[in-house]
Amino acid sequence: MGKSIVIFIASAIFLFGITQAYDKFIPNKKPFVESDNYQFILEGIVYCDPCRAEFKTNLSQPLDDARVGMQCRHPETEQITITVSASTNSTGYYNMLIEGDHENEICETFLIRSPREDCNEIPNEGGHGRESSRVTLTNNNGISGKYRDANPLFFLAKKVAPECAQEFKEMEYIPELKDINQA
Ligand SMILES: *[C@@H]1O[C@H](CO)[C@@H](O)[C@H](O)[C@H]1NC(C)=O
Ligand SMILES: *[C@@H]1O[C@H](CO)[C@@H](O)[C@H](O)[C@H]1NC(C)=O
Repeated sequence: MGKSIVIFIASAIFLFGITQAYDKFIPNKKPFVESDNYQFILEGIVYCDPCRAEFKTNLSQPLDDARVGMQCRHPETEQITITVSASTNSTGYYNMLIEGDHENEICETFLIRSPREDCNEIPNEGGHGRESSRVTLTNNNGISGKYRDANPLFFLAKKVAPECAQEFKEMEYIPELKDINQA
């Protein structure tokens, strides 16, 4: 009787140890582990953009196992203060635990690696297109709470899908319908 309790406790401790080790080994696969070190949870989604439009359409495909990074730097010294990376899950979402408050820094998400050879071009690399990937990681500017949403990121397909022409045609109707509803 006493012996089986000891065995039970021993195996519970053993399993707990394994779980802890696993969490440390793959931090971005299991981000919701309680920890006092992080201040923000940054969430975002990564798509393959078969239309090479760099915005969301009905044809955008969430990418599983895409690699994404986030970096903050000082605007003047360019000194990097934090770098984090994560992989997307099967619905295209990633999340990152961010340590510290990053007021007065420039923080941006960026694409690292696509799981698809036919859709792995990074748009505007180093160009002004990266503006859209800015994230705010401070509690000192009116936004509060732990969760922060990053803008979606798009890998571009090598070839534009034939359905894109039709998709763009249909999208033109959206603003008109809105106008009619509001009038
Ligand atoms: C993927 O991540 C998102 C955001 O964290 C979550 O809502 C969703 O349930 C996850 N999907 C899977 C299949 O794990
Ligand atoms: C996107 O798909 C939805 C649902 O299938 C449809 O109602 C909508 O019209 C589509 N939008 C465009 C721009 O094709």
